[in-house]
Amino acid sequence: MTRSLHGRRVVLAVTGSVAAYKSAALTRLLRAAGAEVDVVMTRSARRFVGDATFSGLTGRPVLRTAFGPAAAGELHVDVARRAELVIVAPATADVLARLATGRADDLVTAIALCATCPVLAAPAMHPSMWSHPATRRNAELLARDGRVTLVGPIAGEVASGDTGIGRMAEPETIAAAAASALTPRDLAGRHLVVSAGPTLEDLDPVRFLGNRSSGRMGFALAERAAARGARVTLVTGPVALATPPGVVRRDVRSALEMQAALDAALAASTGGADALLMAAAVGDYRPATTHAAKLKRSAESLTIELQPNPDLLREIARRRTGPRPVLVGFAVETGTDDEIAGYGQKKRVEKRVDVVVANPAAESFGRSDNRAVLVTAEGARWLPVLEKTVLADHILDAVVSMLGGAE
Ligand SMILES: Cc1cc2nc3c(=O)[nH]c(=O)nc-3n(C[C@H](O)[C@H](O)[C@H](O)COP(=O)(O)O)c2cc1C
Repeated sequence: MTRSLHGRRVVLAVTGSVAAYKSAALTRLLRAAGAEVDVVMTRSARRFVGDATFSGLTGRPVLRTAFGPAAAGELHVDVARRAELVIVAPATADVLARLATGRADDLVTAIALCATCPVLAAPAMHPSMWSHPATRRNAELLARDGRVTLVGPIAGEVASGDTGIGRMAEPETIAAAAASALTPRDLAGRHLVVSAGPTLEDLDPVRFLGNRSSGRMGFALAERAAARGARVTLVTGPVALATPPGVVRRDVRSALEMQAALDAALAASTGGADALLMAAAVGDYRPATTHAAKLKRSAESLTIELQPNPDLLREIARRRTGPRPVLVGFAVETGTDDEIAGYGQKKRVEKRVDVVVANPAAESFGRSDNRAVLVTAEGARWLPVLEKTVLADHILDAVVSMLGGAE
């Protein structure tokens, strides 16, 4: 879940396919993400689902016709002007044909033709309709014009029980495409380096010293930065997370390996970086000796000598000669909110970084949400409990404002 849909005005146009029942689930997802949803239905769509379902989910009347008694002025113009995104889901073969040829013979197509915002369409039809040359041609026309972006269809079973390409994309996929269409590309042309996860310091071939970092914060930052158009290099310790789309991932194990990978990612010879977001939980110490063979169990107590790891962020900050890369550090702290903000500010000044994101320990590790304070030279700003992807966007907002307009 991202904040891209929060408070955004979405028009959901439902057309006459059996898949129309899935648009109720899509409406739920859009509403849960905070979107304001107006549902418009074609006459045939109303043969498949009732408008009470949609008005119940949206809290707003369903729009059916441009000519109803309630219509004042030009409804299609008003709705299209207000909309920030139009989604046609399901989109029948017939509505694709009407959209491709610029027809406006009902409220759905009139709104789509009038809209200047992004328009998504999620086709749903029998595979033989989708593979027909007429539908292929209509899909190509829409792609060529560039005003309607298709989401799906996907391969699978369709209502008749046949299988093939024609099944509507899942509501989650359509909601994600909607969020993506509303995401600003304000990091386009930037290179962001993100570190994530724990570091593991080997004691022998089977034992290590590690920490409980899940990597979720760093992965959320990488995902959102890529969604906002950045080129992203993600340097991560061992974690059980999938690489976000469009992100270049470098896997490392120890703090020293992470240091080498970060130096390579930040090197001027590889284009340098506009920002480094150091979300990894880098181990402070490593065993002074890594044993080549497994240590044998014994009845004696065992003392392990540890030696300090370099402070990776401090070293990078020390070498920085100008305002780039913007440096963002993370601090997990315990204490009252004021104490945590104070530790964050102290860390920011001492390490000579631009932003410190400080979290109360109990409200961050291993969780999908997080409460944090953003500490900059201007002061400290507490954010409410947020999903890590939403927090990531707030942190990236700070980076965007520090990078300014010019590349
Ligand atoms: C039971 C039934 C299921 C249908 N399912 C689909 C479908 O999945 N996809 C499609 O393109 N047309 C389907 N149709 C045909 C459309 O409903 C028909 O082309 C209609 O005119 C579309 O109107 P609209 O695009 O204005 O909603 C179906 C028709 C019936 C009777």
